This record gives sequence, structure tokens and C-alpha cells, in this order.
Amino acid sequence: MLLGVNVDHVATVREARKDVEPDPLKAAALAIKGGADGITVHLREDRRHIQDRDLIGIRKRVKTVELNLEMAATDEMIGIALKVRPDMVTLVPEKRAELTTEGGLDLKKSGSKIKKAIDAIQAKGIPVSLFINPSITDVEISKELGAKMVEIHTGLYSNVRGKQQAMELKRVKEAVKRGLEIGLMVNAGHGLNYANVKKIVAIKGVRGLYIGHSIVARSVYDGMEKAVREMKKLST
Ligand code: PXP
Repeated sequence: MLLGVNVDHVATVREARKDVEPDPLKAAALAIKGGADGITVHLREDRRHIQDRDLIGIRKRVKTVELNLEMAATDEMIGIALKVRPDMVTLVPEKRAELTTEGGLDLKKSGSKIKKAIDAIQAKGIPVSLFINPSITDVEISKELGAKMVEIHTGLYSNVRGKQQAMELKRVKEAVKRGLEIGLMVNAGHGLNYANVKKIVAIKGVRGLYIGHSIVARSVYDGMEKAVREMKKLST
């Protein structure tokens, strides 16, 4: 199973100060050193974290692993994807007020817009993945729309506990199974952390996991002691 590491939140910290640090490109290089099979960036329409220059820089430097561009299915983003040429594009719904991607794509409502984006991007040889809720219907519609891949939203699985989590896990498993049956590559992601990832890893046939927040959070804990020790040395 591939691990794609989302470095958006490194840019979130930088944008809080509009500074140059921490640099998501540097973080991407370290993630690759740590074994990441891919790097994901989400260029949001409001540019709240990743900036256009980050995407361009990461594309220039990330050559040995897969660069996954998450984006909304808009003309602006399609234009950027065709210019920058990531190794794959994941289409996601985007709401300005949301803190993160809250649900999967609404394929019934936005089907024609999504199909237009899939056709334009895949015609240039870049595979498209659709970020969808764990629903068999959505998996089947993704295939009809022509996407090569789907990413099953694990956010609800990650947010609930006990019986409800078992139910959500079942939905994820069924969606994965249906995707594989109809010839899609199936990924999963959102909300996965060091505790809840194991049950998703155990699902056979999942191509890759896309994880960001928990890895960035862990990096802060793991790096804090060393960072303080170094500053302490300089300041005493
Ligand atoms: N996959 C998609 C499509 C996402 O939008 C996100 C969040 O940016 C992730 C995966 C990663 O989610 P998390 O940051 O919760 O690991």
C-alpha cells in the first residue's frame, strides 16, 4: 500500500505568519526520506495554505515519487493542473467556510462539471481520482464518469467510535470491493491517524492512503525537544 503524505498543514503554519518557514517543499523532501511514496498538495481556491509557487517548486523537485494535486473541478484549477502536470489529480469538493474537505464529491449534482474536468485532464495523460463518500453508488458513478481512480473518504470512519465505527468500516470495505470489481484503482484517506489506520490497511486491494494532519501533528511532537535543545544551546 502506498503512502501519500499531504504537506498542506506545513504551509498552514507558514501562512499564519506569511513568512517563508516552515517550507512545505522542505517537508516534502523529508517525507520522501522517511519513505513517503507520494506527496499531496491541495491548492485551494482561497490559497489559505499551499500557494501556486509551492506547487511549482514541489513539481520541480518531486520527481521520484508521485505528486498528487488535490483541487476543485474549476476552469482555473484545470488550467493549473495542465500547466504544472502533477502525476495525478484528485478532484475534491470545496466550500470556502469549511476547515477541511468535509465530504466526498456530490456526483449527482456536479456530474457534468466533474466529467468535463476528468476528460480535460486525462486527455493530457494525467490520471484523475475522485474523492467520494464510501458509497457503492458513488463508486459506480465514478466509473461511468471515466475516472481511473477513486479515493474513499474515511473521515466519518475516523470520527466515530464503537458500533458506529464498525458500520463505517463496513461501508468503506464495500466501496473498495465494488471499485475493484469494476476496474477502478481505489485509494482511501482523510482523518487517518496512528491508531485508526490499521483497520484500513487491512482492507485488501487498496492502492494507497493519503494522510496529512496526523503526520504533521506527530512531526511537531517528535521535533520539539531537538528544536528547543538547539535554541537553548544558542541562548545560554
Ligand atoms: N484526502 C483528501 C482528498 C483530502 O482532502 C485530505 C485533507 O486535505 C486528506 C486526504 C488528508 O486528510 P488528513 O489531513 O485528515 O489526513
